[in-house]
Amino acid sequence: MHRGLYRRGRSSVQCLFLLCLADFSAPSSPPLYVFSHVGHEVTLPCNWTSRMVVSPRPQSPYLQWHTPKGSVFEMKGEARYEGRGYKGRVQVAPWRFEGGDCSLLLRELRFSDAALYESFVIVEGSMRLFIGAVRLVVRDHKYRQQLREGEPLVLKLHTPQAATVIFQGGNATESEVIWQKNSRDRSQGRLTKGDRILTLSGVRLEDSGIYKVLDPQGLAVSTVNLKVEGGREAHSRACRASITSLVMAASLLFSHPHVLF
Ligand SMILES: *[C@@H]1O[C@H](CO)[C@@H](O)[C@H](O)[C@H]1NC(C)=O
Ligand SMILES: *[C@@H]1O[C@H](CO)[C@@H](O)[C@H](O)[C@H]1NC(C)=O
Repeated sequence: MHRGLYRRGRSSVQCLFLLCLADFSAPSSPPLYVFSHVGHEVTLPCNWTSRMVVSPRPQSPYLQWHTPKGSVFEMKGEARYEGRGYKGRVQVAPWRFEGGDCSLLLRELRFSDAALYESFVIVEGSMRLFIGAVRLVVRDHKYRQQLREGEPLVLKLHTPQAATVIFQGGNATESEVIWQKNSRDRSQGRLTKGDRILTLSGVRLEDSGIYKVLDPQGLAVSTVNLKVEGGREAHSRACRASITSLVMAASLLFSHPHVLF
């Protein structure tokens, strides 16, 4: 049924397109930019209120969202089509659509989702109308983190797409794979998998370095720059510092007793 909708849509689009070129070619206004991060959820804004004028009470309008690579989402009445690579991640609220809001909700963003998205509507007895264009930019995550020796490192995976984690030590010239999705090894070193996180228990000084979470294409979903401080050393340094300031305050008091009065 969905395939049928898709095919019917394509053919009607092709034959209608020649007719509508003259009046309804895509306007040249620049697209809206939407920025988000990989793994996040994003709404691509869309409003077709002004297109309703063509037919004030449109009978099951047919909404289409697509990128230059192909169809992303289509909706007509109860029927839906979700494009390749978008299955289970795209949605337009039908009740909002009836009111003029055709915004596309896109979940679990991937780098491959970055594109120019265009929306169109076909109302019965009318031609295909361009609604709007949105350019989606997908960014990676970057952090700096500082931990004391013995504390746990919690690495966010951000997306179910996270496939590999690599680590490059502070002085190392190469990175090593420290975690792999679907690995048969249940315990992968000191790493424990949680809900979209990995926990490295009891970090040591030599755990300082760069951790990268990679997607199946090898692109960095996130980069974490970790610095581990010696637990005991840092503590004694802090102690020494407070003792020094105490001594300084005391000597100030003795040498200049008037500062108090
Ligand atoms: C859509 O645009 C119309 C005007 O064309 C405006 O009145 C309405 O509030 C807009 N809807 C949304 C959800 O932005
Ligand atoms: C890197 O090497 C320096 C000097 O050899 C050493 O002091 C430092 O602790 C090393 N860092 C790590 C993270 O191993």
